[in-house]
Amino acid sequence: MISDLFGRPLRDLRISVTDRCNFRCPYCMPAEIFGEAYQFLPKAEILTFEEIARLSRLFVELGVNKLRITGGEPLLRVDLPDLVQQLAEIPGADDITLTTNAYLLAQQAQPLKDAGLHRITVSLDSLDDEVFKQMNGRGFGTRRVLDGIRRAADCGLAPIKINAVVQKGVNDHTIVELARHFKGTEHIVRFIEYMDVGNRNGWKLDEVVSAAEIVAMIDAELPIEPAEANYVGEVARRWRYRDGEGEIGVIASVTQPFCVDCTRARLSTDGRLYTCLFASDGVDLRDDDELRGIITKVWSIRRDRYSEERAEITETGGASPRPKVEMYQIGG
Ligand code: GTP
Ligand code: 5AD
Ligand code: SF4
Ligand code: SF4
Repeated sequence: MISDLFGRPLRDLRISVTDRCNFRCPYCMPAEIFGEAYQFLPKAEILTFEEIARLSRLFVELGVNKLRITGGEPLLRVDLPDLVQQLAEIPGADDITLTTNAYLLAQQAQPLKDAGLHRITVSLDSLDDEVFKQMNGRGFGTRRVLDGIRRAADCGLAPIKINAVVQKGVNDHTIVELARHFKGTEHIVRFIEYMDVGNRNGWKLDEVVSAAEIVAMIDAELPIEPAEANYVGEVARRWRYRDGEGEIGVIASVTQPFCVDCTRARLSTDGRLYTCLFASDGVDLRDDDELRGIITKVWSIRRDRYSEERAEITETGGASPRPKVEMYQIGG
């Protein structure tokens, strides 16, 4: 296990498998900027499944136990179940999950489940078709998303978490309806405070609906009470319905930041490691310069002089009892 300078262990790896998306949510990929002419990553720069699986294995060896496949929209990546299968084979990868907008989920849920996917989180900001059309930037209604959720549940991926970003004046008038729709089902709606991610959504603090306001709005119609976190560092605060009909979550990264327990690293589509959602730059895990840096570091602390030490480190002057690499493995 490795820890950072604040003692926070590395537990989750969020893997972006594509920078493309079939939606244009204005808070993430505004259509004016991500238009026809926008240059997404060329294929050569996108990690292959083998590269992702190899890097994931290293992360798991260092203490990661949750792998989350994200994007962009991950279901746009061809043959995604093949990646899930490779990740599921990693010993210690106990929780393999996926965040999707569910537009393509209905037809992919079963192959993903069969490949070893454990859980799924679906983004759905509103059940109101007009509001949803505006919030996905593509004029898509909710039907396909709801079908995707149903199908995923039928395939054994339930309970499903439903993520809704709440934006003042955009969908805040529809959040009670969203909560009510999934109340009494096994699924869990989580409301997310609108965040200043990236540089292109024109974020303003006064467009944020705070967790306290979200909770008050729901509580007024569907009474709720706080519930204990499932695990240390859980991003969402849990609230359960007082009548026992399930729970909701609120993700308050603006008004109640949860950095103190943050155990998440992110692997970008092109193989960079980011230590924060808001990081300025990542370390290129495929870049020759970075690897040169690692080799330089290993070499700069080198103190090998085995043959000179042999007599000193063994009492008899024979071969050292400590384990050594085999010659056939490293070349004579
Ligand atoms: P579980 O494993 O089911 O508890 O999911 P999770 O909450 O770890 O992951 P999920 O992808 O469902 O996260 C929900 C949302 O919370 C994300 O889409 C982000 O909007 C936000 N979020 C997740 N991780 C972070 C983080 O490290 N920092 C901030 N600021 N927001 C985050
Ligand atoms: N603020 C809050 N959540 C966001 N997401 C994307 N952009 C933002 C933002 N600016 C959420 C999406 C999805 C997940 C991948 O991230 O709603 O659930
Ligand atoms: Fe961004 Fe997800 Fe919306 Fe796509 S569906 S634009 S990745 S928030
Ligand atoms: Fe972690 Fe998010 Fe805080 Fe960055 S902003 S340290 S990703 S919780």
